[in-house]
Amino acid sequence: MEFAEVVRRRRSVRSYDSSKEVSDEQLKELFELVKLSPSSYNLQPWEFVVVRDKKDRERLKACAHNQQHVGDASAAVIALGTKNPSGRADAIAADRIRKGLMSEEKKKKFEARVKAISEDEAKARLWTVNSTSLACMTLMLAAEDMGLATCPMEGFDAECVKKEFDIPKEYEVVMLITLGYAKREQPERPMRYGFEDIVHFEKLGKK
Ligand SMILES: Cc1cc2nc3c(=O)[nH]c(=O)nc-3n(C[C@H](O)[C@H](O)[C@H](O)COP(=O)(O)O)c2cc1C
Repeated sequence: MEFAEVVRRRRSVRSYDSSKEVSDEQLKELFELVKLSPSSYNLQPWEFVVVRDKKDRERLKACAHNQQHVGDASAAVIALGTKNPSGRADAIAADRIRKGLMSEEKKKKFEARVKAISEDEAKARLWTVNSTSLACMTLMLAAEDMGLATCPMEGFDAECVKKEFDIPKEYEVVMLITLGYAKREQPERPMRYGFEDIVHFEKLGKK
């Protein structure tokens, strides 16, 4: 599909055909694209728990204010972002050094920045939500291109999700995304602000 068509076709789908499954092969294809998303310092803070089992989806639905599509979609993805990027820094630095993109001096600065993120809860939270949200957008667009429907969700109780799915404290539950096959045509898209409303030139307010 043309990229513009993928963007135009994507909708937040809340009505799914529960009889259809999303296969391991589809998930592999999907996440091979998701992993190419950009991330701060290339630290790739995201991890995903794909919930396909009906009973587990019902547990997740209960944490998501009983939003029906969590129970009806073939899968629900719990998008997690780590707030402790230190564990990933060594591999990323080694890769950059090997490719001649980072000096030993820059490595020290990089490590100091990573440490600073890990040590400040508010900073770490914003940091991980930014990059993980971009990966979620890749997931939704890639899914659309594969003929799969999605819906991003922030309507959930993060503590409940963490408890039910044994997610350690260092992770932020960034988003839930339902994934499956749309049951019917989508209603008209909700309104969008126009180019004139959202784009400014050089200065906010200058049209
Ligand atoms: C961060 C975020 C949180 C959202 N949370 C929910 C949610 O909890 N439940 C839901 O049904 N839709 C949720 N949505 C979907 C929006 O309602 C939807 O994107 C918006 O109405 C525009 O519709 P469209 O995506 O079909 O263009 C969320 C979307 C975003 C980006």
